[in-house]
Amino acid sequence: MAEQKATNVHWHDGEISREDRNRLLNQKGATLWFTGLSGSGKSTIAVALEEALFERGKLSYRLDGDNIRMGINKNLGFSDEDRTENIRRIGEVSKLFVDAGIITLSSFISPFREDRDQVRRLHEEAGYPFIEVFVDCSLDEAEKRDPKGLYVKARAGEIKNFTGIDSPYEAPNAPEIHLNTNTTPLDQEVEIILNYLVQNGLISE
Ligand code: ADX
Repeated sequence: MAEQKATNVHWHDGEISREDRNRLLNQKGATLWFTGLSGSGKSTIAVALEEALFERGKLSYRLDGDNIRMGINKNLGFSDEDRTENIRRIGEVSKLFVDAGIITLSSFISPFREDRDQVRRLHEEAGYPFIEVFVDCSLDEAEKRDPKGLYVKARAGEIKNFTGIDSPYEAPNAPEIHLNTNTTPLDQEVEIILNYLVQNGLISE
């Protein structure tokens, strides 16, 4: 847990609440947290879901590992400590987006269970919906896909601390949604998530 460094700071509420913003947008802001190996399909699913939501008039926004690491988190690498800080910051950013009323699609390997649980707690303490989506894919299959050619490099020892090779991935114990991308086609995965959002009152049909 990061410590609070600044003293003499006070929370300042506005006149417009999260509920007001949700009403304006006709949806409920929520974090969908996609976790899984590199190449498992997290970003692909988030992109397809964003499009499907847009077509239904719902506002979502993607926060994606590679993109975020070129901006706000450009000073972080792939040590265990840096990954924890990566996820902590994105957890806070996701929470802000949810407060804004947005369906936030956060795709990060987020290999450590404790880091993901911390983001879950952050949301739940504030009463914000947090939906963990396990993008489950065997290492074998992820390596076969190797969309960025990184597994080949990791196997050759050219990338250190690569998740699944010489850095661990801790699968979720009780994700709200469990997708198996080895066997399930993309459009079905999007349907599963949309159904979940409808059934849980986050979007209307
Ligand atoms: S996380 O572990 O801190 O959650 P994040 O999702 O932000 O990772 O970034 C993962 C992406 O960074 C991968 O999809 C891959 O493109 C790239 N990458 C570069 N080096 C590594 C590495 N050592 N381990 C995992 N991913 C890496």
